[in-house]
Amino acid sequence: MEFFADRTARGGAVLAPMAGYTDAPFRRLCREHGSAWAVTEMVSAKAMARGDRRTELIGAPYPGEPDLVIQLFAADPDEAATAAVRLRDAYRPAAFDLNMGCPVRKVIHKGCGVQLMRRPDRAAAIVRAIRGASGLPVSVKTRLGPDEVLVDEVADAVVEAGAGALAVHGRTGAQKYAGRADWGPIAALAARLPIPVLGSGDVADPADYRARRRLGVHVMIARGALGRPWIFDEVRGGAAPPWPRAAATLLRHARLQAAWYGEARGVRSLRGHLARYVAPYPEGAALRSALVRVDTVAQIAAILGRTAPAAPEPPRPAPVRTRATMPRSPHDPGDGGTRCPT
Ligand SMILES: Cc1cc2nc3c(=O)[nH]c(=O)nc-3n(C[C@H](O)[C@H](O)[C@H](O)COP(=O)(O)O)c2cc1C
Repeated sequence: MEFFADRTARGGAVLAPMAGYTDAPFRRLCREHGSAWAVTEMVSAKAMARGDRRTELIGAPYPGEPDLVIQLFAADPDEAATAAVRLRDAYRPAAFDLNMGCPVRKVIHKGCGVQLMRRPDRAAAIVRAIRGASGLPVSVKTRLGPDEVLVDEVADAVVEAGAGALAVHGRTGAQKYAGRADWGPIAALAARLPIPVLGSGDVADPADYRARRRLGVHVMIARGALGRPWIFDEVRGGAAPPWPRAAATLLRHARLQAAWYGEARGVRSLRGHLARYVAPYPEGAALRSALVRVDTVAQIAAILGRTAPAAPEPPRPAPVRTRATMPRSPHDPGDGGTRCPT
């Protein structure tokens, strides 16, 4: 069975791509907690095609990462093909994902992201190019449309081109994050398309997950996983951890960040997650103001010390990285690293 059909058949939710967040350390935590697969931050096909090394590292797996799915944003089929082959040869991913949802001006001005929804033929050509060149399955992640809803036409075009799965964020690009995500059109697609359809938008807890699954749609979770990587266990019937275990996971996240980015950068880039980890727990919330000022893993361990048991296992060593080749931290976008903050 093809990758996406096989993994969706096994159940659970999928970590959605989030630029600035779904880096190797966070994907690792989410996978360990039951995410069915996990998608990287988006990688510029144009920058990859011209051989930009910093861009390539955005797609890098953690050691032994299974089921790596690398998201590309592209407007040109040839660049997408070149990028896919380079990334396949460097990292052996299980599949690629094509970004057709990013509404950021810098991305849509290049004809990428949600702008590609206006050109279903071009989108289909890019799917064909990635599949043909890499020999790997390709999923597509869209919104409902750029400003009006036109996901049906796009969906038909990419299915025809051989896409293995379709993920749809239930808002238009113009909406960005305003209002509630509309899962109605996503359920209609799931009912009629021959490939797995995943919905995205506003799934914050297991009850939201179950409600969306009842629509016949598979589920991606983005913001709901921030500071809560165990949400993937929860949607499979597990319980949320008590504070000591949550604190141990936070500490492990810090150690993984330090191993991946180096300590200063790793701890700095953890700040986007910290407040979300502690907020639901009274014991944790009391530590928040101390945690947001930390610079080292030892400081985090000391602050959590009274409440966090020792991490269950040390992080695996990350590949050796020089300063010049380290992937960007979420707070330090590189030239190939167009961020999609929305
Ligand atoms: C900070 C941030 C970065 C995002 N980056 C990407 C991205 O690079 N590619 C993409 O397809 N979607 C991206 N998204 C959209 C999410 O994958 C998801 O569709 C959206 O956040 C709605 O789901 P949620 O309500 O579960 O967050 C991003 C969302 C956020 C909040």
